[in-house]
Amino acid sequence: RDAPLVLGIETSCDETGVGIVRGTTLLANAIASSMEEHARYGGVVPEVAARAHLEALGPTIRAALAEASVTLDDLDAVAVTSGPGLAGALMVGVGAAKALSLSLEVPIYAVNHLVGHVGADLLGDDEPLATPTVALLVSGGHTSLLLVRDLDSDVELLGETIDDAAGEAFDKVARLLGLPYPGGPEIDRAAVGGDPDAIRFPRGLTRANDLERHRYDFSFSGLKTAVARWVEQREASGEPVPLADVAASFREAVVDVLVDKAIAACADLGVPRLLLGGGVVANRRLREVAEARADAAGIALRIPPLSLCTDNGAMIAALGARLIMAGHEPSGLGFGADSTLPV
Ligand code: KG4
Ligand code: ZN
Repeated sequence: RDAPLVLGIETSCDETGVGIVRGTTLLANAIASSMEEHARYGGVVPEVAARAHLEALGPTIRAALAEASVTLDDLDAVAVTSGPGLAGALMVGVGAAKALSLSLEVPIYAVNHLVGHVGADLLGDDEPLATPTVALLVSGGHTSLLLVRDLDSDVELLGETIDDAAGEAFDKVARLLGLPYPGGPEIDRAAVGGDPDAIRFPRGLTRANDLERHRYDFSFSGLKTAVARWVEQREASGEPVPLADVAASFREAVVDVLVDKAIAACADLGVPRLLLGGGVVANRRLREVAEARADAAGIALRIPPLSLCTDNGAMIAALGARLIMAGHEPSGLGFGADSTLPV
């Protein structure tokens, strides 16, 4: 029997993603983004995102079908992100997926967005995802450490940010440095030639007493404040702000704590595998430091292609196909959008 042909819909934040897979084979990964509409607000505006999904979803579904050279009638199932994410944005995708399921008379699978990020790894043509694995997911909306024992039935949240997401920290610090949104690539550019050790910015939740309760949690709002204060003091003293050094030192503080906690989780749990996901994976310094420290610790590091790390529909389709192939029952039409859906 052929592997199932699944269309996946992702609308949890500002990317309208529609992907099509056959089993673990990627056939299409169509994306529309409303990022430019949010740029002037310095961050994603939920109401704007939801309206943009409504406009983009039809064309994006068509683009994915064309890219995969299939028609709606060929589909065996539909998968959709049901949470976590922005409630109004999620509702658009869930509504569309249910409409497809009803009209095409194919089963529908509700997928957790974070688990979907791990599912992105199924689509590589290298070795299949080995478990257990620790997964570090870092984007503008989330910063989470997961322990994945079994992708379709046993995923545990080890920790997450208690305030800003890592990408959000990049965006906010970029803003206070006078750089445009999204901040990640801007900080990367500004950091060229900067000294990452020039300024010792704080590493959130790494003190001994924090580690007891928050061993795998993250905090970036203190770091953001520290950068703001440092820049203010510099400006008050009349000296120029060394932008490259500030950017490089800030980025180093974020990367250091992300990688440190992920590697610690692998070591504590005896899991020799680490998977990265989320839009912040675009950060070259993050990939460099993760590679070096994973290597030193004997941990196998996996990084899916960037187009599958940022929010996309293909990863949701991949997880849907996985659920089907593992014999899971479909979700039915009774589920809703859940902005705080746990893994
Ligand atoms: O996964 P993603 O595309 O979307 C959502 O979060 O929904 O991630 C976007 C986030 C933004 O916060 C952006 O600033 C950050 O990822 N980002 C980066 C880089 N490129 C994008 N952060 C650090 N370094 C980068 N090169
Ligand atoms: Zn995401």
